[in-house]
Amino acid sequence: MLIRRIKCLRYLGTRHNSSHYVTTPIFYVNAAPHIGHLYSAVIADAHCRYQRLRNPEKEVRLCTGTDEHGTKIQQAAALHGIPVAKYCDDISERYREVFRSASIQPEDFIRTTEERHKRAVAHFWRTLHTRGHIYSAAYSGWYCVSDETFLTDSQLRLDESTGSRYSLESGHPVEWTEETNYMFRLSQFQDDVRHWVKQEARIRPAKFEKILLDTLSEPLPDVSVSRPSNRVHWAIPVPDDDTQTVYVWLDALVNYLSSVGYPNEGYSAHWPPAQQVIGKDILKFHGIYWPAFLLAAGLEPPGQLYVHSHWTVDGQKMSKSKHNVVDPVQAARQYTMEGLRYFLLREGVAHSDGNYSHVKAQRILNSELADTLGNLLSRACAKSLNPGQIYPSANAEHLADLLQSLDAAKRLQDALLQLSERCASHYECNHFHLVADTAMAALHAANNFFESSKPWLLKAGAPEGNQPRLETIIAMTMDALRLCGIVLQPIIPQLATRLLDKLSVPTAQRGWNYLAESFATASPANLGGSRQLDGPTSALLFQRILEEKSVKEKEEEQKPQPAKRSKSKKKERRETMS
Ligand code: MSP
Repeated sequence: MLIRRIKCLRYLGTRHNSSHYVTTPIFYVNAAPHIGHLYSAVIADAHCRYQRLRNPEKEVRLCTGTDEHGTKIQQAAALHGIPVAKYCDDISERYREVFRSASIQPEDFIRTTEERHKRAVAHFWRTLHTRGHIYSAAYSGWYCVSDETFLTDSQLRLDESTGSRYSLESGHPVEWTEETNYMFRLSQFQDDVRHWVKQEARIRPAKFEKILLDTLSEPLPDVSVSRPSNRVHWAIPVPDDDTQTVYVWLDALVNYLSSVGYPNEGYSAHWPPAQQVIGKDILKFHGIYWPAFLLAAGLEPPGQLYVHSHWTVDGQKMSKSKHNVVDPVQAARQYTMEGLRYFLLREGVAHSDGNYSHVKAQRILNSELADTLGNLLSRACAKSLNPGQIYPSANAEHLADLLQSLDAAKRLQDALLQLSERCASHYECNHFHLVADTAMAALHAANNFFESSKPWLLKAGAPEGNQPRLETIIAMTMDALRLCGIVLQPIIPQLATRLLDKLSVPTAQRGWNYLAESFATASPANLGGSRQLDGPTSALLFQRILEEKSVKEKEEEQKPQPAKRSKSKKKERRETMS
């Protein structure tokens, strides 16, 4: 575990340009955003927020956007009876909106229908062509329209009863297709791609490196990179040949270059991306095609691919036909967007699928954000204990005494002393669940300390002499809240801001280096005087989530109600009995 963490750190430390460029996949506009899409974006956003927090001088650049070409999108627009360009505008805007409400703050949001992108694709294509990596050939094979790709026999499942074939991976039907295409000489890049994949911490988590190496252990066939324009016309035309359009995956991958201004001068300041976040279903495109395309064009492939697994819902794959697709906007009505962000990063682990369930979300959010974090803030700010509404300073003598006489105080100190280093190494590896774990452990220690030190007794007796001890207890508790607030900023940016606002922590003191200043390190900055709490900000940080009505109850409610006999049977029975 430790070795893996150190490897992540080592990789990030060896980057050679000053920019830290991070990307999410660009999202298909054939359907509205769901929590799986949000997850890709939230990982990338939290990663960037941490990078900025840790190295304010570093230029961190996040790019996301929408993938708008291809048959799937053409078909979706037709199905809705909307002109395809308008359809793309609408869905793309929904992505922007969801990301905005989830505090995902990209430096750029790119759309593949933009002119700057089309120019980049044309330039990229010409580069590949001029360098001799693209040739024209008659091509025939099993083509999957939904996945926009040709599949080999080993990627197919034959339904014996109907004779139809389906993609093993996606389950979508395929059809035999014969056409003239432009082909990319993928086979020539097998060794280079393998070499790239095998670099330390290139593909994370490591299980996905293994998957790629397995694929690379078989000879790679050349890949078709164009389609006849009469079949796929909602696409970018192949330069100098309007009978063909550019394969949507080549088009889509180039977005990462278009966003930094390729081919104009200056794009290389950001190139290559430090980290590209992708879901496991698009590993082959990013882990094999993409580095091969880039190497063929004479460009450096990305520093790291960070691959995440998928969200299932109550144990099942999300799909429209199962009516179990979780809409982030609706989920946010129950949990708030910050709650949803926290749940996704807290519960999701990259190496295996996560299960989304209301019961789990409710349990985690109530116990961690409402009780462990929120409740402690309310207690430390309660007027009964803290009538002057201050963030007091710890009294050196009482602090020393508490640390010596109270185990819980010592445990809190230990937890806070480890917070910065532990969380940093978890963040470096995108292990957000472990950051949350570490912060929650520190907050548990703070709750324990607060309970064991019984500040209300000091208040109840209220002899004047107890005041410095009471203030020391509050100061220690507020320090714990402040440090955890700083640490949690990348995961729950809005809540952390509200917490730090409530504690009147100056904006300039919310950086990672301020984790070194607290009672735990006996840093002078912390012992040097109290400050007034931010009055108007509420101390109620996160409202508990109430029981959700069961699906059955909801269905009952939605049924047309019989004419007004409003008393329920139960009520009637109760009344009859009484
Ligand atoms: N347009 C392509 C990507 C092109 S990038 C050059 C695409 N789009 S997508 O909208 O289908 O998926 C975008 C991202 O959402 C992918 O990273 C994908 O893995 C992720 N997810 C889609 N469903 C998901 C879950 N159920 N769970 C988690 N993430 C999932 O692929």
